[in-house]
Amino acid sequence: MKISLIVAVGLNNQIGLNGKLPWYSKEDLAYFREKTMNHMVVMGRKTFEGLPKKLDGRKIIVLSRTQKNIDDVLIASSIQEVIDIAKQGNESELFIAGGESVYRQFIEVADKIYLSKINYNGPSDTFFPKMDETKWEKAQENKFCDGSWINYVKKTDDGLF
Ligand SMILES: NC(=O)c1ccc[n+]([C@@H]2O[C@H](COP(=O)([O-])OP(=O)(O)OC[C@H]3O[C@@H](n4cnc5c(N)ncnc54)[C@H](OP(=O)(O)O)[C@@H]3O)[C@@H](O)[C@H]2O)c1
Repeated sequence: MKISLIVAVGLNNQIGLNGKLPWYSKEDLAYFREKTMNHMVVMGRKTFEGLPKKLDGRKIIVLSRTQKNIDDVLIASSIQEVIDIAKQGNESELFIAGGESVYRQFIEVADKIYLSKINYNGPSDTFFPKMDETKWEKAQENKFCDGSWINYVKKTDDGLF
């Protein structure tokens, strides 16, 4: 099973403000929908509570130690439980959709990052962790009206020996 982070960041790695996205990009929301459709999507409890509407066509796993039951979603109380649920569901590509605390915990085990770089220079109270450039390489970049969609893949050790 591949583990992919999917994130939209501002020009300084901003990701959130007051529990919500700091910007509105219709095109990027459509991109998120297209990439995650029919996959399991993992998010922290705070991100889930800030969603403007339900995500159809996707099984949502909410990470929480305080909530035991939320309608229509699966709850996991640890990273290991997330992985177990996804493997039991035969997921091929598990999408990690934030927020900051969840990205920080998954970035080390992720294989791919779908990063939308948004032309946003304003305030934020949450940030995407700094990517270790020795571990990630840019595989693709496409411009769109609000920024760029960039794919990063984890570098393999091939060729080191
Ligand atoms: N730009 C983007 O692409 C993007 C994507 C997602 C989110 N965001 C933004 O990010 C902000 C939220 O980020 P955040 O870091 O404050 O919150 P968060 O990561 O969404 O949620 C944090 C909560 O998740 C639960 N959690 C985290 N790790 C856990 C673990 N290992 N085991 C069990 N539960 C765990 C805890 O819930 P309990 O307190 O219930 O235990 C914790 O309080 C929002 O502004 C949101 O809009 C932006």
